[in-house]
Amino acid sequence: MIILGIETSCDETSAAVVEDGIKVHSNIVASQQALHSRFGGVVPEIACRSHTDTIITVIDKAVTEANIKISDVDAISVANTPGLIGALLIGLTAAKTLSWILKIPLITINHLHAHIYASKIEYGDIDYPAISLVVSGGHTSLFLTQSETRHIQVGGTIDDAAGEAFDKVGKILGLGYPAGPEIDTISQKGNGKAIPFPRSYLKKDSLDFSFSGVKTAVLYHCLGQDSRDSGEKPGLKDRELADIAASFQEAVVDVLVNKTIFAVTKFSVKSIILGGGVACNSRLRQKLTDAAKQRDIPLYYPSKKLCMDNAAMVAGLAYHKYGEKEVAGFEVEAIP
Ligand code: KG4
Ligand code: ZN
Repeated sequence: MIILGIETSCDETSAAVVEDGIKVHSNIVASQQALHSRFGGVVPEIACRSHTDTIITVIDKAVTEANIKISDVDAISVANTPGLIGALLIGLTAAKTLSWILKIPLITINHLHAHIYASKIEYGDIDYPAISLVVSGGHTSLFLTQSETRHIQVGGTIDDAAGEAFDKVGKILGLGYPAGPEIDTISQKGNGKAIPFPRSYLKKDSLDFSFSGVKTAVLYHCLGQDSRDSGEKPGLKDRELADIAASFQEAVVDVLVNKTIFAVTKFSVKSIILGGGVACNSRLRQKLTDAAKQRDIPLYYPSKKLCMDNAAMVAGLAYHKYGEKEVAGFEVEAIP
């Protein structure tokens, strides 16, 4: 079964052709980073205009690269939640239109569940139940995953998402947007123990996350106690910058790893799945790999292209939803 996937939840316009949930024939991603970088974050209005401009070209490319005709597609899938409302609507409208013209089923997908599915594309079989940690620019969520399509949320962020914290700390440090990859690289030259930034665990046994405290701690460390994020740059030497970046990253990674392992024990699962843009982080991959090995539990995370927002994960998961007869009607809405 050939499924065309569409993903426009944030600042990437993506379309992919995937066969039987696993064989990726094409996965086109048009990034808008260059448009948003000078604003230090995603500007929803700019994101929507760019999705509108590029969506048809991206779908065309996905079909051409897969070496098929649009009439060969058996179903259309699209991420309709969560994300920026205007951005989601553009992908959803394109998907509904194609589904209507081609008279083929429409399958709507939760973007976070698709991030979890990305590992399945790479590894094939995964033993369930699993604990899935989805860490992206907009979300930090823990799920108890029972199958490709069944996910119970057991934890989430109460303020900033992990990726958002990386991006905001990058702004404080005078780095570009998105700052996650740069902080990752700079940290490799720094000492993660140099500054004891706070680790917030919230209430005892809580599986929720909070990263606004560590972000503020970095701001105060750089510009002085009770300073405000006024855009002033701290003027750090390379060594100081590397130590601050590494110490911040260590604080975030410690919390992510410890809470994931706590959830693994609490729910006695068979695997750990990691997904989302922050799953590209080398320190997170390393520490979670070590923690999983110690407990003799398999850890799955996809390659970088499948960690970041992409439509292959959407089209892949749609195959399983279709198998469970979960097809959407044209009244289906985008949910931010
Ligand atoms: O999943 P994603 O592509 O988009 C959303 O759904 O939000 O994630 C983007 C986020 C950004 O915040 C970016 O800074 C972060 O992923 N990111 C990283 C790394 N690569 C991307 N954060 C830390 N380390 C990285 N290597
Ligand atoms: Zn995402």
